[in-house]
Amino acid sequence: MSQSAFTHVDGVLHAEGVSTVALADEFGTPLYVYSRAALTEAYEAYARACAGRRASVHVAVKANSNLGVLNVFARLGAGFDIVSGGELARVLAAGGKAENVVFSGVGKSADEMREALKAGVSCFNVESIPELDRLDAVAAEQGLKAPVSLRINPDVDPKTHPYISTGLKANKFGIAFDDARETYRRAAAMPHLEVTGIACHIGSQITEISPYLDAIDRLLELVDQIEADGTPIHHIDVGGGLGITYNDEAPPDIGLFVRTVLDHIEARGHGHRAVCFEPGRSVTGNAGLLLTRVEFLKPGEEKNFAIVDAAMTDLARPAMYQAFHAIEPVLLRNETPSVYDVVGPVCESGDWLGRDRSLAIAAGDLLAIRSAGAYGFVMSSNYNTRPRAAEVIVDGDNAYLVRPRETVRELFQNETVLPR
Ligand code: LLP
Repeated sequence: MSQSAFTHVDGVLHAEGVSTVALADEFGTPLYVYSRAALTEAYEAYARACAGRRASVHVAVKANSNLGVLNVFARLGAGFDIVSGGELARVLAAGGKAENVVFSGVGKSADEMREALKAGVSCFNVESIPELDRLDAVAAEQGLKAPVSLRINPDVDPKTHPYISTGLKANKFGIAFDDARETYRRAAAMPHLEVTGIACHIGSQITEISPYLDAIDRLLELVDQIEADGTPIHHIDVGGGLGITYNDEAPPDIGLFVRTVLDHIEARGHGHRAVCFEPGRSVTGNAGLLLTRVEFLKPGEEKNFAIVDAAMTDLARPAMYQAFHAIEPVLLRNETPSVYDVVGPVCESGDWLGRDRSLAIAAGDLLAIRSAGAYGFVMSSNYNTRPRAAEVIVDGDNAYLVRPRETVRELFQNETVLPR
């Protein structure tokens, strides 16, 4: 699918019509490269499947919050899912509309609520009673009614990595299923809240549809009870979480996923309700890669290491989740490959990007770390005083620098030494 935006042409990896060698020469490495066509294609797969149905797409900003990337989606008419005041500011700066924004997250501050209310976001997805109380108080200050959905924890197993499954009882997210009806009664009685919907998000990198259908069945059971209590539910937010192919995973196609969910809701007699999707990874993940250069090849007694100029500070997923990202040489060499651990320069044994990879490479070669468009740059850090990478969007034969590489000076310009 979106992977096709990055292909070898005459032995050189291209991003759309641009050679990644040229990109590395112009912008340096490590470098995040996104394909506008791939971002568009993945978003449009959602939008097409929602067309003509009461359904909307809210791109999860947390997966990739670069202004240029958000702007690509905003131009396509996307809504957004945010988890902070910072993400709201980015959406607005990128041309997104507050009225198409849902505000998720388990710990919204009063200031963040104020900003979001003032901007006019479409819904607050609330996760606890104290959060309802806070939102009611903030809305009262402004003489407004805050639109609210409760995020329910449906207690289903999304069958993914434990760090990124969020809909189990043991997770910090959502309101416990058994407390949901009572919490809705309380929310409905609060003078400055307007209950509008119900939400869930069961995890990330989910490669099967069935956990979604299980979660939806649980939500629909509640919807009937809540409406019996006199509170109408206008929309169902099914969250994000659809997985992508990093290696050999075979997630359902986006269109099939959306249609199956919508058909299921309709078949259960709830087709009159609006449905929201909050995809992150599945719209940006395979639309990006991280270009890095091999600094040294270091043969070892047990392992060979390819030490590259990208690190866990640039792409944290392998270190954090033992995540697999395909790694391939930018220039194909006609030589016998050796097996390497691809590691960064950071002083941590956890600083690896790929293990036991068979690569025909030499020092100075460029490597592409695939599927890095989601939870890549956004999770990067300045550990070891490493400036964060530059980001580029390729559109056909053009490359646009959408975030320059940080400079070391910028990293400590706001720090001071003691006066004496
Ligand atoms: N909506 C909510 C409320 C979420 O918490 C998330 C992601 C999404 C939508 C988007 O989920 P997606 O479609 O991207 O799976 N850093 C981890 C992933 C954390 C996901 C957290 N929530 C990783 O690199 O795998």
